[in-house]
Amino acid sequence: MKPIATVILAAGEGKRMHSDLPKVCHVLDGRPLVVHCLALAQAIGSRKNVVVLSGQAPKAKRTREVIGQAFGQKRIIFATQKKPRGTGDAVRAAAHALKTFSGTVLILYGDVPLLSPEVIRDFLAFHHHEKAVASLISVHLENPTGYGRIVRSSAGLLQKIVEEKDASDTQRRITEINSGIYAVDRKFLFDALAKIKPHNAQKEFYLTDVIAIARDQGVPVAVWQAPNHRAFEFLGVNSQKDLAVLENYARQRRNAQLMGQGVKMWDPASTVVSPLCQVESGAVLFPGVHLLGKTIIKKNSSIGPYAILTDVRVGESVTIKPFCVLENVTLENEASCGPFAHLRPGSVLKKGAKVGNFVEMKKSVLGVQAKANHLSYIGDAFVGAQANIGAGTITCNYDGFSKYATTIGAGAFIGSDTQLVAPVRVGNGAIVGAGTTVTKNVPDNALAISRSQQINKKNWATRFRQQAKRKK
Ligand code: UD1
Ligand code: CA
Repeated sequence: MKPIATVILAAGEGKRMHSDLPKVCHVLDGRPLVVHCLALAQAIGSRKNVVVLSGQAPKAKRTREVIGQAFGQKRIIFATQKKPRGTGDAVRAAAHALKTFSGTVLILYGDVPLLSPEVIRDFLAFHHHEKAVASLISVHLENPTGYGRIVRSSAGLLQKIVEEKDASDTQRRITEINSGIYAVDRKFLFDALAKIKPHNAQKEFYLTDVIAIARDQGVPVAVWQAPNHRAFEFLGVNSQKDLAVLENYARQRRNAQLMGQGVKMWDPASTVVSPLCQVESGAVLFPGVHLLGKTIIKKNSSIGPYAILTDVRVGESVTIKPFCVLENVTLENEASCGPFAHLRPGSVLKKGAKVGNFVEMKKSVLGVQAKANHLSYIGDAFVGAQANIGAGTITCNYDGFSKYATTIGAGAFIGSDTQLVAPVRVGNGAIVGAGTTVTKNVPDNALAISRSQQINKKNWATRFRQQAKRKK
């Protein structure tokens, strides 16, 4: 096969988004639209990648930034289309960047983000096999409104592409549409683009006219009909509504793939798994689960309803109960947390450790099989193996200026409603009585208790009530 260069059109106005953000920078399935296209170009081994940007400097700058964030310094060529004068004019802007390139130019639209490498590979193989100079992909859509229609002769051969705005009523009834994806020989493409004229309803330079020119010149043109079950991959984003529809397709596709690999999902429609997450077979995702960032879930772990995990590493056989919010934390094998736990960055639950309801942790380690079952704040703390943190325990880690550490030894027992005023250390095996405010280190195996003696006054309550009644 001939070498491939890719041109991504990203200079359109995107007016229908009603947004200051350039259209191709809107995020779908965790990534900006244009980043999806570039990732595709890389996946199919494209040698040169040209992004055609708008002549409006702020828009172009923003698009470059978004691409830079995703691909760093990797070689991506930028070209500028001074004014949005149509798709043909936009491709022409890439002519200079591809002057010395010899091979096939793949043309993608920056607002068509769901295309998979498999589809494009099949298309390029077809283009090669047909020995075509220009090939395009057509799709059958139930509702073809807005798209260019494929007009065929009675023998079924491609005649031309007619834009919606230029189409007759009969042509508008055609459901085979132009996907807008093309593979064209570089030299033929730019020679033809030099000849197109804006003689149409929109007064634009149409890229589709390249196909008409090829036909006029008797140059071989081929149409690859995309399989129907792939039709959604060619949908473009023109509005916020489209974005939501495509987000749904992206989610369905990924979830179907994960289920195919043995992940159990109770309700794929409400389960969100971002593209960079990994979920092993045997994991169970309940309705409303969001796995975001680079979250990893190992086998046989269960993520309860409405848990939101961002950049979380979950080991094997971990249980996350409903409504937990976790960010940048690690749960080792057999750990468990929730319901309603909030684990903040830098926290680690070691093997078999357990965090219960209404517990907040930040930058803290809970040792092997240690427990904090109810209503606690554990911040900047290191908790040893098998320690038990009672209900309502608070590490007072902040004095308004700096943060301080708390260390709790292995096997220590912290009574309920304890405040640990950091920096402080509770020794191995020590016991802290309920209601204690720990301000000094507690030696190993000692008891620490700080509360006033209890006094019981006999029948005091009865007398109090009688007096109160009399006064009324
Ligand atoms: C185009 C096709 C149509 C096809 C449809 C598929 C033409 C004339 N029509 O129509 O046959 O069915 O795509 O989605 O090609 N762009 C620029 N500069 C411009 C104009 C557009 O960079 O001056 C970019 C846009 O950012 C977008 C892409 O080209 O990424 C498509 O442009 P758009 O105006 O949406 O074309 P359609 O009218 O949808
Ligand atoms: Ca479009």
